[in-house]
Amino acid sequence: MFKPLTVADVRELTEDAVAVTFAVPAELRETFAFAPGQHLTVRMRAGDQEIRRSYSLCSTPDELAERGRLRIGVREIAGGAFSAYARRALRAGDAVEVLPPLGHFTTAFDADRARHYAAIAAGSGITPVLSLMATGLATEAGSRFTLLFGNRRASTVMFAEEVADLKDRYPDRLHVVHVLSREPQLSPLLSGRLDGDRLRATLDAGLIDASTVDEWFLCGPYGMVMDARGVLAERGVPDRVIHTELFHVEGEPAPVRTSEPAADASATTVTITLDGRESTFRMGGDERVLDAALRVRSELPYACRGGVCSTCRARLVEGEVSMVANYALEPDEIAAGYILTCQSRPLTPNLKVDYDA
Ligand code: FES
Repeated sequence: MFKPLTVADVRELTEDAVAVTFAVPAELRETFAFAPGQHLTVRMRAGDQEIRRSYSLCSTPDELAERGRLRIGVREIAGGAFSAYARRALRAGDAVEVLPPLGHFTTAFDADRARHYAAIAAGSGITPVLSLMATGLATEAGSRFTLLFGNRRASTVMFAEEVADLKDRYPDRLHVVHVLSREPQLSPLLSGRLDGDRLRATLDAGLIDASTVDEWFLCGPYGMVMDARGVLAERGVPDRVIHTELFHVEGEPAPVRTSEPAADASATTVTITLDGRESTFRMGGDERVLDAALRVRSELPYACRGGVCSTCRARLVEGEVSMVANYALEPDEIAAGYILTCQSRPLTPNLKVDYDA
């Protein structure tokens, strides 16, 4: 359920990005407890429209437990409703409705582990990686991180100071390689887009020794993440040690279609469970489960509606669906019956969908 959180601070990171810090009261700290790498969903109204967006947390679980602070990184995108509001109008003292964090772009850091983690991030993709690096380096004294970080120019690097501070604190355990696409650097290898060819060259040059990396974190736009996945596969890196998080940057999600049922609105009978309560309704074969379900349960969780954030994840207990797109669920989650309801169309006359699973 959404909870109103008070904004403690809005800090400019670059000319188009801010870090927003929320104050979490003691009684909500357990509700908002999170793992590094996770994201949260914010909700606002713009005219008669409800806007939901998910943003990665850049702060650490310790900051929440000790000081009651949660921080997200927000880069303004063209036409972005919440990102423009956050950068231009949001102030300390304002209240924002926030859903507790979720997501699986994380790992179980453990003081007894000694690992080499590598992160490949582009642009605002650094946000969850910052939380992962800060938590991992503090928790695992024997572990190290290598960060390959792509941006346009030095002036557009989000969290440059925080990354530099971490580097100062852990000079022997954090290795940072900056790649800039629109600003020449001393090494031509580090000037240009962080695409598949550049990653191959970076690995060949030994800037990251892939043979020593235990876990990979890839975060950025779809093209970069897919390129990196492909190159790592070529190098024999198994899928199970690669974590990915996509940023949906191709514009705003489509509006929610909740008012008019489809013409064949009686094709499928659906029962959903949310917060222990069942609701049954009928929906058309061309509709998405989330759109139809919102007609009867407006409090259902969702954010991107593009198959990216996994906020709408639920377990399909009965029946079959086809998913139009899936950028969020891992193969083991699909095997366990999880679906993205914003992407699911019914294939059978009856569906049972459990949001509590
Ligand atoms: S709402 Fe984001 S994946 Fe469905």
